[in-house]
Amino acid sequence: MKGIFRMLFTSVSLVHISSSAPSPAEIQVEKRQVVTSVVTEISSILGSAATGVASDSAVASSLFHDLVTALEQVAPTATPTSVPQAISIINSATSPSPSQGSFFENVVQLIANDFLPSNFVNSISGIVNDLNLIGPNSETNVNLRAPSSAVYPKKQSTDAPYSLTEAQLRQVIYIPPGFTYGQKPPAILVPGTGNTGYETFSENYIPLLTGVSYADPVWLNIPGQLLGDVQVNAEYVAYAINYISGISGNKNVSVLAWSQGNLDTQWALKYWPSTRNVVSDFISFSPDFHGTELAYILCPYLPELPCVPAVIQQEYNSKFVARLRENGGDSAYVPTTTIYSATDEIVEPQQGTGASAYINDARNVGVSNNELQVVCNGQPAGGVYDHAGTLFNALGYALAVDALTHSGPGEPSRLNLGTVCQEVVAPGLSLAQVLQTTGALLISAVSVLIYEPKMFNEPALMAYATS
Ligand SMILES: *[C@@H]1O[C@H](CO)[C@@H](O)[C@H](O)[C@H]1NC(C)=O
Repeated sequence: MKGIFRMLFTSVSLVHISSSAPSPAEIQVEKRQVVTSVVTEISSILGSAATGVASDSAVASSLFHDLVTALEQVAPTATPTSVPQAISIINSATSPSPSQGSFFENVVQLIANDFLPSNFVNSISGIVNDLNLIGPNSETNVNLRAPSSAVYPKKQSTDAPYSLTEAQLRQVIYIPPGFTYGQKPPAILVPGTGNTGYETFSENYIPLLTGVSYADPVWLNIPGQLLGDVQVNAEYVAYAINYISGISGNKNVSVLAWSQGNLDTQWALKYWPSTRNVVSDFISFSPDFHGTELAYILCPYLPELPCVPAVIQQEYNSKFVARLRENGGDSAYVPTTTIYSATDEIVEPQQGTGASAYINDARNVGVSNNELQVVCNGQPAGGVYDHAGTLFNALGYALAVDALTHSGPGEPSRLNLGTVCQEVVAPGLSLAQVLQTTGALLISAVSVLIYEPKMFNEPALMAYATS
């Protein structure tokens, strides 16, 4: 479907080829002009959406593709040379805005400032053509080991039924060659909307947790990069928890998730109760357990224009979110550590106890809710961080390590906050890793634009969630 769809659209260069070779300075000027003209083009494309001409799905799809074609014209004009400079560009490019098209204009600025994650994809057309979905980004991995006892079709009679086959569920798990099968505690990394596990984590928690004694990372590359039905995405998480435990001597695992990965995990813990017995820690970066009031950031003119299922389900008042939160789903099932930023440009509200990230503890399993700007108030690690910034934030990292090395959630009271809060990024992460972590947002944006089929209404709740 996606392939056929793509062939209908070919990119048309906005840059005119001149007869004599342009000088480097002329090229630079031309690139900057392209950035300006693309921003104008995006607002005019979205302006036509505003007039309601696109309420027909086919027209809407071609409009989204016009946005992709516009983005394909942008080339980097500058590269940040220091972490503080990179953070300040991220902050100006991602500051929350009520405007419908602002996110895609922000995307232009991030591409122009060289934030494309070039370690797996170095152009927008590379994302469109799935050039990024190979190697550690693969969704079809060969995992031959059988768990010590069956975890499919059900590990426990109270578990929900899977709609997918065991082969489908298992192949999305990427197990790196050095994995120790239980000698070290497994850590399952669950990505966010529009990303594979490797795209979300390759420049933060994969390197940070590789080679340490207290964690052993694997990650999930979920088909459709989490843009399909969130309930199906959750099946992959439920299966991975029981499978990875089952091939690791039935040891407990921990789950580290970003953004939607947290909804998937909480839904898995709710409807597959067997998983609750084997998760030591759920460490939750920029979660939206209550969805977001800013869903239109990724899907402009929602609900007049169709959108990917997962974003509709992450609206603040979606049926999915309401059902997740019912019957204690707004409370933790396993020790849970949340790490969130009050300046998140995608998840709102994200401040205080009303934050979408905030999780209750009715079952007394141990919860620690951590808003960066509260715990590190007025200090560098409590500064302006966007939705992806929690993944390289120094406080988030210190809490994750604290959770993984103690029983129960990560506790700020155990940390040396005087030192931790002075760091802008987790010790050991480079400028390039900060750029590429942020670049995961660019992949999300483009993936959302090209994903089909888009819908006007959220998918129906699964039977097991309505009985
Ligand atoms: C495994 O995780 C469960 C749920 O968090 C917990 O109750 C149990 O103590 C853990 N087991 C070990 C050996 O850590």
